[in-house]
Amino acid sequence: MANREIESTALRTRMVGGLRAADDGSEQALAGWVHRRRNLGGLLFVDLRDRSGVVQVSFGPDWTEAGSLELAQQIGHEDVILVHGVVAARPEGARNEDMATGEVEIRARSLRILSDARTPEIPVYRAPEDELPAEELRLQHRVLDLRRRELQQNLVLRHRLVLETRNYMDRHGFIEIETPILTKATPEGARDYLVPSRVHKGEFYALPQSPQIYKQILMVSGFDRYFQIARCFRDEDLRADRQPEFTQIDVEASFVEVEDILGWMQGLVASLADVAGIDAPLPFPRMTWYEAMDRYGSDRPDLRFELEIRDWTDATAEVDFGIIRTQVAAGGRVRGLLLSDGARLSRRQIEELEGVAKAAGAPGLLWAKRADDGTSGPLGKFLSPGQADAMGLRVGDLALVAAGSDTLTSPTLAAVRDAAARVMELPRVREHAWLWVTDFPVFIEEDGVLAAGHHPFVMPHADDLELLETDPARVRGTAYDLVYNGTEFGSGSIRIHDPELQRRVLRVLGLDDAEIDQKFGFLLAALAAGAPPHGGIALGMDRIVQRFTGSSSLRDVVAFPKTTAARALFEGAPTPVGPQELEALGLTLRTGKVNEGEQGA
Ligand code: AMO
Repeated sequence: MANREIESTALRTRMVGGLRAADDGSEQALAGWVHRRRNLGGLLFVDLRDRSGVVQVSFGPDWTEAGSLELAQQIGHEDVILVHGVVAARPEGARNEDMATGEVEIRARSLRILSDARTPEIPVYRAPEDELPAEELRLQHRVLDLRRRELQQNLVLRHRLVLETRNYMDRHGFIEIETPILTKATPEGARDYLVPSRVHKGEFYALPQSPQIYKQILMVSGFDRYFQIARCFRDEDLRADRQPEFTQIDVEASFVEVEDILGWMQGLVASLADVAGIDAPLPFPRMTWYEAMDRYGSDRPDLRFELEIRDWTDATAEVDFGIIRTQVAAGGRVRGLLLSDGARLSRRQIEELEGVAKAAGAPGLLWAKRADDGTSGPLGKFLSPGQADAMGLRVGDLALVAAGSDTLTSPTLAAVRDAAARVMELPRVREHAWLWVTDFPVFIEEDGVLAAGHHPFVMPHADDLELLETDPARVRGTAYDLVYNGTEFGSGSIRIHDPELQRRVLRVLGLDDAEIDQKFGFLLAALAAGAPPHGGIALGMDRIVQRFTGSSSLRDVVAFPKTTAARALFEGAPTPVGPQELEALGLTLRTGKVNEGEQGA
């Protein structure tokens, strides 16, 4: 913010962050918060803070009016003040290199206290060595925490990314259309947040998990290219990369194939990365889902480091080791990671990796170390030098091995890969690893039950349509994910635009026709009105801002976030409601709290 005309208001001449030696001698009116104060007897120094930065203001008998000097003695941290004074360039030795405005100070002529602040519950000023207060405390006192420079910068970057998104999409012929917040369930795999209807008692709106169905209908209506900075709501178990309400860059276009969407979207992401100063060379590399699972065990591999899963099924075919023989006999594979120089890992470090494998659902992790005098470890004991050679295990290396079905070994080895990269401190081959993962399966099998891989609207590959009813698990979809440094940034597909095919897919998912009509009748009716081939994607805005700012949590890029227990600590939500409100909504609570203030009212 360097534009003085924008910065000046009726009360102030400009913001403080841009003051430099070139402003020496100029008269200024500056307003903001007392960041820090130091009293050196006759002289008083105050660091004055606004959104743009901090500047030092000095009060002294030679240049400050007597009344103001007295008032200055009374100001405390976080009071809001207005200072009139003169910019004075500091002499060489007195400059503060750590402060952007360190070349100057403001000699205050007069002071007004605009607002007294109570003693802040958490400090806004911190010396570099001071730790942040506990997050829960900071979330309770969000009004103060949001004064922190890091959080302000995160939200400013977020604003710039949203602005760039709107400009980019507009340049490419997309128009932004708002879709409803009070709506009907959308199948994105999470639970819905429900809103009771007062007018229609016993009926509920759902908050949208995404605008998915609406954006498809907009294509049928002929809008051709739609986008929306869309708020989505999902009642799911929260983690550091999930919030119950979050923002998507939601996109849909007509008469497209996969290439169109990937082209537009990598262009968008590269221009967002440019705003954030992040490297995003185009085009982004691509890999099919099958290849990603085979080489990295994950559909969102972190390609900052080079470590690939190897298939050792053949190399270990002659190894006389019970677990391996039973797993291979049952149709499984022997796969693992070869850590060159990994033999240096201590017993404790290997146990840590075993713990990671177990947490990922594996019964354990086999390993083999090779030294000058032979191989050791639970698998190593059984390896002949020839077999170790066949695995590519050289002296000094460590092999981490999992045997079994890919559905078990892939997530295990993916988790072990990330952990091994950390424990081994593997060098990064690139700082910013972008990847499109394509051809996701349309269905996934969980405990014998078929579910939609993404959502039920993904167009299957034309070549695989005949497998729909006979071998659904093998049907590849036209679905893709965008991955950045191991984080899923976005997800999309070409959609089914034929209502009959859509019905077939819903039936494969176990829905009967009555359910299909009740849940998706309005979509099917829309598709029957003449639907263009269409497809799209949604990128997670919060995740993009989080990764671009290097924040450890989504909570640091959302002004008023929820905790992992889905609570808003600052404003205090959710809250119990009173019996009268429940009554008006036609609801009774079987258990739980009723707002005490209204009890019996
Ligand atoms: P999906 O469910 O994969 O796809 O969501 C798209 C992207 O949204 C982000 N995201 C989240 N961010 C924060 N908190 C959450 N709880 C959360 N859940 C999802 C992720 C994710 O990649 N309608 C489809 C898209 C489409 O097919 O066009 C959809 O919503 O970055």
